[in-house]
Formats: sequence, C-alpha cells, structure tokens
Amino acid sequence: MERTYVMIKPDGVQRNLVGEITSRLEKKGLKIVGLKMLQINRELAERHYEEHRGKSFFEPLVEYITSCPVVAMALEGKDAVGTVREMMGATNPLAAALGTIRGDFGMDIGRNIVHSSDSPESAARELNLFFAPGEIVEYRRAL
Ligand code: CMP
Repeated sequence: MERTYVMIKPDGVQRNLVGEITSRLEKKGLKIVGLKMLQINRELAERHYEEHRGKSFFEPLVEYITSCPVVAMALEGKDAVGTVREMMGATNPLAAALGTIRGDFGMDIGRNIVHSSDSPESAARELNLFFAPGEIVEYRRAL
C-alpha cells in the first residue's frame, strides 16, 4: 500500500481548517497512520524545501512555514500520492478547481493551506524527515 506525506500549513491551522481537511481525507478512504502537530524550525524547513532553495519565494516560504505550528500526517492507501494531490488541487489556489481543498479554501499561492508529496520518492523522503520510525503505526480498520 502506498504512503504519502500531508502537511496542514500554518494558514490552515490558523484558519481552523484542520478538522475539515482531515475529515475530507478520512472520508475519501485514506488511512491515517501518523499524525502530529509540530513547530517547524528553520533547519527542518530548509531541508523540506531544499529543491526550492535559490528561488525568489524560498525565504518567504521558510519564514511562513516556521511562523506557526503545522499538522503533519502520514496517509496510506491505493495510489495515495496521486489521490491526495488531486484532492489538494493546483499549487496556486486561484487555479485550483472548486471541490479541491485549495480551490475551496484558498486565494494565495504563498498561503496554499496544505502540502502533499509529489511522488512516492518524495513521500519516502518527507515521511522520513517528519516522522521517527515508531511514529508511523500499523493497524487494521473496521470495514
Ligand atoms: P508546496 O506544495 O508546499 O510546495 C512548495 C511551496 O512553495 C508551494 O506549496 C507554495 O506554497 C510555494 N510556492 C510555489 N510557488 C510559489 C510562488 N511562485 N510564490 C510563492 N510561493 C510559491
């Protein structure tokens, strides 16, 4: 079963969207196998967004993501990476379809509410960055 990393960003937490977003993901059928709230420090932010280093939005992005706690999730399911990306919508909320999380709740690319891994390889890297091995659990769901 595929796993992906999802993060409710500071604006999602500050706008009380944690329950709404988590509920959508659960109702879709994705299984929560890791869940925590944390304050990201600069080192972790820079490692997470390493591929964007040098871009014009890198510094504001690091400042924003470290400005308030985030909610980190490990989700499991068939094609979890692609499924969650579809549910998030386009990176720019103005371009995201209605019905997606960003399309329904966002207006600003720099405040786009959620992050999710863009490939299984990114998911493995990001889950490893945000969760210690014992923080991702295994259990059976009732049907
Ligand atoms: P995320 O999916 O977390 O991955 C990288 C983040 O960089 C992205 O969401 C946006 O929040 C941010 N980002 C990408 N492009 C821009 C941009 N042009 N201006 C500001 N922020 C951006």
